[in-house]
Amino acid sequence: MTPSNAEFSSLPESSLQMRVRSARLDDLPQLTEILTSSFYVRTGWMGWLYPLLKLGISEDLRQRLRSQNPHYVCLAVIRQILPVQMAAHTYCDCVTGTIELSQRYALPWQPIKPQHLYLSNLAVHPEFRRQGVAQLLLKTCEQIALDWGFDDLYLHVMEDNLQARQLYRKAGFQLVQLKSASLPWPWPSPRRLLMHKPLAR
Ligand SMILES: CC(C)(COP(=O)(O)OP(=O)(O)OC[C@H]1O[C@@H](n2cnc3c(N)ncnc32)[C@H](O)[C@@H]1OP(=O)(O)O)[C@@H](O)C(=O)NCCC(=O)NCCS
Repeated sequence: MTPSNAEFSSLPESSLQMRVRSARLDDLPQLTEILTSSFYVRTGWMGWLYPLLKLGISEDLRQRLRSQNPHYVCLAVIRQILPVQMAAHTYCDCVTGTIELSQRYALPWQPIKPQHLYLSNLAVHPEFRRQGVAQLLLKTCEQIALDWGFDDLYLHVMEDNLQARQLYRKAGFQLVQLKSASLPWPWPSPRRLLMHKPLAR
């Protein structure tokens, strides 16, 4: 099992001094904010639903963070900041990005290994995007997967999420399956892409 305070890796000295560690329960408010704002909009009628969605995301994540599953980890990229109102040298952990890695089981007809590791909920705080945070998270997950004895990583991405598709392509993921829209005709909805990366030992 991954210890809750395990530290994994960090960006080079010259960059923003970010490091990756397992997420903790006290990160929950920041993680929830990043996830909700990355996947839902606050404007229009969605604004009414937003607090409810946020509560759901928070409670689900709380359960997962408390779980004792040996093949589950939620990672947080941390940047240490010194809030102006704090005394000198009292740094706070500012969460800039997150990802979850968990073991899943495939059904016999699915084009995935029966027991595999699956990436989900990758999100980076808007202020810290395009600084390599997602790449750092993916690299760390690859290392953890190898440490756990797995040789592959899988994930889903929506067809219209071009930024994420570009990120996964750059990180070496390849398309395995295109799944048709979840909503029935006539509602348009993007397809889901199943992506795979074999890990080199
Ligand atoms: C997708 C996301 C996770 C990328 O995070 P990030 O930390 O900004 O990504 P990185 O800085 O590590 O970028 C790595 C590469 O991904 C690609 N990429 C990332 N953001 C991109 C963008 N907005 N446009 C085009 N390519 C992009 C680029 O190839 C980039 O390399 P480069 O900066 O050298 O060109 C972030 O935009 C996000 O949180 N989006 C909302 C949530 C989401 O869609 N999650 C994925 C669910 S499947």
